[in-house]
This record gives sequence, C-alpha cells and structure tokens, in this order.
Amino acid sequence: MPDLTTSIGNTTFQNPVFVASGTFGYGLENPDLVDVSKFGAIVTKSITRHPREGNPPPRIVETPSGMINSIGLANIGVEKYVREMVPNYEKIGVPIIMNIAGSVEEEYCEILDIVESVSSNIVGYEINISCPNVKEGGIEFGVDPLLTEALTSALRKRTEKLLILKLSPNVTDIRVIANAAVNGGADSVSAINTVYGMSIDSMARKSEIYTTYGGLSGPAIKPIGLACVHKVFNAVDCPIIGIGGITDSADAIEYLLAGASAIQVGTANYRNPAAGLSIVEGMESYCSKHKISHITDLIGKVKTHE
Ligand code: SIN
Repeated sequence: MPDLTTSIGNTTFQNPVFVASGTFGYGLENPDLVDVSKFGAIVTKSITRHPREGNPPPRIVETPSGMINSIGLANIGVEKYVREMVPNYEKIGVPIIMNIAGSVEEEYCEILDIVESVSSNIVGYEINISCPNVKEGGIEFGVDPLLTEALTSALRKRTEKLLILKLSPNVTDIRVIANAAVNGGADSVSAINTVYGMSIDSMARKSEIYTTYGGLSGPAIKPIGLACVHKVFNAVDCPIIGIGGITDSADAIEYLLAGASAIQVGTANYRNPAAGLSIVEGMESYCSKHKISHITDLIGKVKTHE
C-alpha cells in the first residue's frame, strides 16, 4: 500500500487531498453526502470579523470549462463561527483549516485572536489575501509584497498553528508575493485563488455577474495554477498547496509533479462532492502502478526541456 501522507510545516496529513475554501461550507454540512474523514483536510469558507451578506445576485455563472463567482465573502462572522461551528469539529474526524479574510491587518489579527482564545482542533489557518470580489482588503494584500509580509508576520506572532497564505494569480510575479509570505513567517502558501473573469449574455447584452467581474475557477485555470506552483517551487523554499481546476487524480498528480505538497479540490465538488475521494483512490492506484512508495516522492519531479 503506497504511503499517501504529506507534511506541511509541523502537521502531517493522511493524504494530500484537501477540499478548497468555499466548496464545503464550514466543514459540517456534507456528512451524508460524503465520508469527510477520508479527506486530507477541509478548508472552511472565508470567515470575517463580522457576518456578511455577500454581493447581490447574480453571483455565480457557468463558463466554458469553469465558472465565475463573485460571492463577496458571505459568511456568519467569527463570533458565531466560534460558538456554533468550532465545537462540532471534534466529531468529524478530519483536520480543519480555517480560512480567514479581512479588510485591514487589524481585522485579520482580531479574528485570529478570537479563534486562538478558545480551544479547538483547527490545525491551521489559510489567510485569504486574494479574494477578487470585495472592494476593501483581500487582494489588496495579495498584490503587494510589503503588505503581505507585514500581515503574515503580525499573524505569525499570534499562533503556532499552520499559517498558509492563499495567493492570487492576478499579479505580475507570484514568486515575489510567495517570498514575502515566507519572510513573514508563513509555513506554506496555497496557489492559486481564482483568476479575474467576465461573462456576457449576448442576447440580453448584459454582464452575467452583478459585480461585472468575478473569479474564474475550474479546469479552464489548471494550466495557470500549474505554472504558478512550478514557479514558486523553483524560487521559494516552502511547501505549496496546489489549487486550480483539479477534477481527477491525473490533475492532482500533475500539481505534485509541478511542486505541490498537497492539493485542494474546489469547483469539481459542485458536480461531485466525492470528487476528492476518487482522487485519493486514483493517487493510490497511480503510485502502485508506477511503484512509487511515498506520494511525496513525486513532488517537483516534472521533467522540463531546459
Ligand atoms: C468570494 O467570496 O467572493 C470568493 C472568495 C475568494 O475568491 O477568495
């Protein structure tokens, strides 16, 4: 039986298949649909300091090989999250990574302080500095290395749990932002969040998303995600969590070969919430077939032509 365990910072996961933020709610919504205990981890939807309604509809549209969303960080806010969600994590038997979003540094810090003040089995935090759908914060951090480093180091002082910075592809050079995150004390970066996109209904002559632009995800962005992971892998010394258009185990293996230590399944969950479980099985078969004893032996092993 191949060994699928992978480590990010001080945490070892039973396999490298996580479900991405925004696709499995707070981690507690899908127990009848899928055996979540078989995932490597669940990343929660983004939690903010106060509850948010999110953007007005329409806020999701299907596009060729993907979808565009502009949810606008709708969520229950950290206080309700700590009261109503966190205590239930003990029962579900899968590591939880809490995704945090804010509009200014103090807000991210306050959220982390509130969660750290209660006992929980959250194993780490994914810091959303890459949401393309809000007017303040989010991607403002993710396009600026100085802001990224300052935010990461402020958060690092507040927790010993895993600190993962979620990066945007909507930048000139993702390596610069990844490097800033690591200089600030991040254990890992996850790449990529969605790519700016637009969809137009030619009959109505109207944008199909209320905010005009949104974040494109799904198979359409896999080549962008792979390139970002490979670039960061070759430039920055930290484990990378690959995201972007992963639908099956072949996609997941490609991300590992590009340099990812783990992957997140996002948009594919909307079609099949058990997609991640098929990916775990497919990874096992791939390793057996190719006589790979430990999945991590594949990390960064893509052959290039130069
Ligand atoms: C959203 O809530 O608009 C999506 C979150 C994100 O892209 O980070």
